[in-house]
Amino acid sequence: MYIKDISLSCFRNIENAHIELKNGINIFYGPNANGKTNFLESVYICSTGRSHRTKNDKELINFNSDEAHVKVFIQNENITQRIDAHITRGNKKGIAVNGIPLKKSSELFGTLYTVIFSPEDLQLIKDAPSQRRRFIDIELCQLSKVYCYNLQQYMKALKQRNNLLKEIQKEPSLKETLFAWDSQIVQYGKSIINQRKKFVKDLSFKSYIRHKQISSNEEQLSIEYNPSSDENSFEEKLFNSLNRDILSGSTSVGPHRDDISFYINGNDVRVYGSQGQQRTAAVCAKLAEIDIIKENSGVSPVLLLDDVLSELDKERQHMLMDCINSVQTIITCTGIEDSVKSYAGEAAVFNVKKGIINREI
Ligand SMILES: Nc1ncnc2c1ncn2[C@@H]1O[C@H](COP(=O)(O)OP(=O)(O)O)[C@@H](O)[C@H]1O
Ligand SMILES: [Mg+2]
Repeated sequence: MYIKDISLSCFRNIENAHIELKNGINIFYGPNANGKTNFLESVYICSTGRSHRTKNDKELINFNSDEAHVKVFIQNENITQRIDAHITRGNKKGIAVNGIPLKKSSELFGTLYTVIFSPEDLQLIKDAPSQRRRFIDIELCQLSKVYCYNLQQYMKALKQRNNLLKEIQKEPSLKETLFAWDSQIVQYGKSIINQRKKFVKDLSFKSYIRHKQISSNEEQLSIEYNPSSDENSFEEKLFNSLNRDILSGSTSVGPHRDDISFYINGNDVRVYGSQGQQRTAAVCAKLAEIDIIKENSGVSPVLLLDDVLSELDKERQHMLMDCINSVQTIITCTGIEDSVKSYAGEAAVFNVKKGIINREI
């Protein structure tokens, strides 16, 4: 799968752009704060229905405008599809596929597959558990509409349960009404745990293979799922934590408290790994994401590399570049770095300055 062309209007500082992309490497370079990440963000929105850096869609609209548009044409074998995103100050964001508006932006998952890699992702291993859950959720939502639905329903029921817990503190008789939310939480929660378990097993295996390609054979990477509760005991644990949950006004067990851990030769990378080992493990997990999408959906995702090359040492830069030859890649960087230069001959190169994007090569 690859993006053929993309048009933006009044999207952040990019007032107008029509860009034809190469089915290969596309390099966007220019000074800081000129619109490179803005451009990637517009692609990401056409993939997941939301921005990777803000929940507030209004921020996406150019300061001097009332609406922003993004239009993308994607090619998958001999099928062309069109995605339109329309963001206005007054209404909810509208997304259409081939001219047909979607009821919910989450319906977009699975139309344009992307894997995004920004400097923050290099912190994946050290970051808060919520970032690692986000990493898993976005990947699984792209791959499974069922997962996406279960997650949405779970989060809705969780919110209601937490509200009710707070009300029970004042009005204990309401305790009897909790079961309605509990049964939903258990139903959706169990499927989430089950899907995450399978996913992390696959992620671990594919990251292990990637890691083997780039590190010495002495190092073995593995990733483990640390569920807050396993499927079978979830209902019981939820029940047993009720009094504590009422006191705190929040739910203490369930997939919203899950985590994953990274190990090298059995040692926890978060605790014992050097910064280099942590970064390499994060790169491998991202590369494994590409492999998982390819295997499960049968299509190659588009890789979005936002300014990460400069964060990696030469060796890791080359390793990353060597791994991406079979997927369309959009790279942003401030200057054409050495690792990119060797590919520049076969890449399309664009200059980004003050929101104006020009193709140079
Ligand atoms: N809604 C908006 N309207 C106009 N300009 C914006 C908007 N949102 C962000 N910007 C501008 O975009 C620039 C940052 O762009 P960004 O793509 O993050 O930079 P970089 O090229 O470093 O990746 C800043 O100058 C910021 O003021
Ligand atoms: Mg940037």
